This record gives sequence, C-alpha cells and structure tokens, in this order.
Amino acid sequence: MPRTILIAGNWKMNKNYGEGVDLAQQLANELADGTNGVEVVVCPPFVDLKGVAGVIEFDDAPFGLGAQNVYWEKAGAYTGETSRDMLDSVGCTYCIIGHSERRDYFGETDDDVNKKAKCLVEGNITPILCCGESLEVRKAGKHVEHVVSQIKADCAGLPIDRGDQLVIAYEPIWAIGTGETATADDAEEVCKAIRDTLRDMFGAVADEIRVLYGGSAKPGNIAGFVAEDDVDGALVGGASLVAGDFAEMVRKSA
Ligand code: 13P
Repeated sequence: MPRTILIAGNWKMNKNYGEGVDLAQQLANELADGTNGVEVVVCPPFVDLKGVAGVIEFDDAPFGLGAQNVYWEKAGAYTGETSRDMLDSVGCTYCIIGHSERRDYFGETDDDVNKKAKCLVEGNITPILCCGESLEVRKAGKHVEHVVSQIKADCAGLPIDRGDQLVIAYEPIWAIGTGETATADDAEEVCKAIRDTLRDMFGAVADEIRVLYGGSAKPGNIAGFVAEDDVDGALVGGASLVAGDFAEMVRKSA
C-alpha cells in the first residue's frame, strides 16, 4: 500500500490565541481547493488548540490537529502538564513527542519519549516521534547509529499493528531553524535506516509507517525530499507560520 504524504506544521511557541485562529483561517482559505491527496496537520501551542479546532470544524478545513507535547499520566497532581485524554477532548489526532528542543532544553529522555509514545498509541492519538543527531555526531559519522538507537529506545514495546499508529520525524538538529538543510540524499540515508529498524521491531507494518524529514524544509526544497523512497513528507517549523508558504509546500508534495 503506498504511503500517503504527510505535511505537518510545528508552530512551536509562536502565535497567541487570536493569531493562531487567524493563521488557521488563512491556511483553510489557501487549501480551500483541497490538498491533492496530501495529508496535512497543524500543531499549534496548547492554548490555540481549541480555537484552531473550531476553524477546522466551521470551515470543514482539509487539515488535522496535533499537539506539541503530552504527559503520560491520566490525571492528577502534575502541575503544568496536559494528558492524552485532554488532547483528545479538543480534537487532536496527532501529538509531537521527543522534539530535540524538548530533549535539549527540558531534559526529555528516551525513556520519557517511550512512555509518551505508549500512552498516545494506547489512546489512538498518533505520535509524531522526533529523532535526529547533533552536528558533532554528524561530523563523527555516527548519525545513523545515533538515530537507530533513539528509535529502538523510543519505540520499544509499542503496540503497533497498523501503519497509521505512528509517524517518525527525522530532524537533524543542525538543520533546525538554521537555514542549513540536509540534502535529499542525507535525509534518505537516515529515513531508510529508520524504516529498516522499524521493520526489525514491528515487521511488515513498517512499510506503512510514515517517516518525515524536518529541518529548514521550505517551498523551494520540499519536492526533492518527498521524491525520495523513504521520505514520506515533512515536519515544518518556520515555514508553517506563513500560510502561503505552508500551502505551497502541500501543493509541491502532491
Ligand atoms: P524549521 O523548519 O524552522 O527548521 O524547524 C524544523 C522543526 O524543528 C520542526 O519540528
């Protein structure tokens, strides 16, 4: 079964409530003629989720909703955290986990990412699980080894039997927000290694799991990435904050 291309926007900590609703509205307008078979998801900050969900519902917009983080406990005294069922209650069907910014600035470990992934999969929210190497690791030629070990740890024991239950995003840290992009060949090398690892872990279903590229993806380079055999779309930061650019990326991925 061919994998549906997925273009996901990670808004990071940008756009207050009104700005978020505006951006979603602009994107709905840009994509009013459809997405040509490309699946599109936006991942706004928590406070924007309900407002963006409203735009999606009211405009019947052709994109889905994801969060940028989750906590694995069901409920209770975890000040500042947000549970899976809370995400579900505002219409999230995806959630980014393990982003390098969370690993680097907030100390998220592979064990945390694994707990978050299990919690999401068990609740039918698809993790967009991020992995990727630093410049130092890349320069040492250990990038494939590094990413494979992240995938093995982060995905251990996940109850996956369908390809739509998991998305992986390969985001080399040196290419995030720097304007520096990996080449399409660089992305393919690692995305293929990720798929081979997933095949060892989950069997044939790995051929249905989407593996995305992320890191300074933009309208000018997206087509080259999605043309690769094992790159099934992109997780987009900066360019997802401009509706016209993000919509152009969707069109160029079709
Ligand atoms: P940029 O597209 O801004 O480089 O960000 C990539 C990213 O981190 C998406 O999660």
